[in-house]
Amino acid sequence: MPKINENYLNLKESYLFSEINHRVADYTQKNPDKKVIRLGIGDVTRPLGSTIIKALHEGVDAMASSETFKGYGPEQGYEFLRNAIAAYYEGHGVDINPKDIFVSDGAKSDTGNITDIFGNDNVILIPDPVYPVYVDTNIMCGRKITYISGTAENGFLPMPDKNVHADIIYICSPNNPTGAAYNCAQLKEWVDYALENEAVILYDSAYEAFISDPALPRSIFAIEGAKKCAIEFGSLSKTAGFTGTRCGYTIVPQELVFKTGDGQEVSLNAFWNRRQTTKFNGTSYIIQNGAAAVFTEEGMVQCMENIAYYKENARIIAEVLERKGIRYFGGKNSPYIWFECPDHMESWEFFDYLLNHAQIVGTPGAGFGENGKDFFRLTAFGTRENTLEAMERFEKLF
Ligand code: MLT
Repeated sequence: MPKINENYLNLKESYLFSEINHRVADYTQKNPDKKVIRLGIGDVTRPLGSTIIKALHEGVDAMASSETFKGYGPEQGYEFLRNAIAAYYEGHGVDINPKDIFVSDGAKSDTGNITDIFGNDNVILIPDPVYPVYVDTNIMCGRKITYISGTAENGFLPMPDKNVHADIIYICSPNNPTGAAYNCAQLKEWVDYALENEAVILYDSAYEAFISDPALPRSIFAIEGAKKCAIEFGSLSKTAGFTGTRCGYTIVPQELVFKTGDGQEVSLNAFWNRRQTTKFNGTSYIIQNGAAAVFTEEGMVQCMENIAYYKENARIIAEVLERKGIRYFGGKNSPYIWFECPDHMESWEFFDYLLNHAQIVGTPGAGFGENGKDFFRLTAFGTRENTLEAMERFEKLF
């Protein structure tokens, strides 16, 4: 009989968004005549820009002729895309070596897979509330997690505690689920803390394209010293509408060098490369061709048009919350609006209330951790029509 990984028994029974889908399916089955509006999972609704679509088609056409056909590509991603990503960073004043960029099928996979290159006896620091993937993937390996509290008092931007040692630190900014974004001084504190503790920061920048405040950093590598202590996960899911198309990247600087137990120096870039070349055969050429178009001038204009559309949705949601006197966070440099559940309801109670009374699906804060239990998340990724209708229904409640 195989010995199974019993750590899985320590996970919550189902992944947050599966539980939501289950409850919604149950509701729609019982109420087939009701129009349910989904502002729960952060899934985009705008079609891909025409420049990207054209490049995807060209990628398909390349597969039709023996001169341009592509078999296995480099596991790290095609050079043309790695160069395009590096140029995108350069445009934001951040210098990245294309060799440090590993293209993948998305940040969710990479933030989960990165656990492969670390030992199980690390002190892992994870903010609460947080994107559940960081927690679940560490539980799957049997790792112990130390939580740091994001609260309304600290604006859901917890800062390092110098009296607590950590080896691995997860940061997502702009944050999923709270929409809060660290400024440069705050990120510098985290970088200094990581350098002092010889820790590594796993920085999820999936929502960086939503930052409108030019003073806010778009990358951890905008902070001095970060290349010696941080790995960054980027995603085209929200930047370019690739939630279904799938493409992301991970930046592991070659400067990131740590010592093994017996004092041998190892490069995390080399370890991640070893991991990827063993377990991953690269993102398809067709998708990478489309992804490269995202970073062209025209492609980026189209992506930013979609982002502006979502931001207007965020503004519409925030305006109603303001009118109703509900305290909220996010929505300005982020597609997520995180607010206090009205009438002292707990988040799953409010989820059911909203579904039953207004047929709106949101995400209960409890799904992101203990500190989220009195909060609720709405996404700005719906269509304009649905967002307006949902908020009209919302305004009539309580
Ligand atoms: C979310 O709703 O939190 C996101 O869609 C999750 C993800 O990007 O995987």
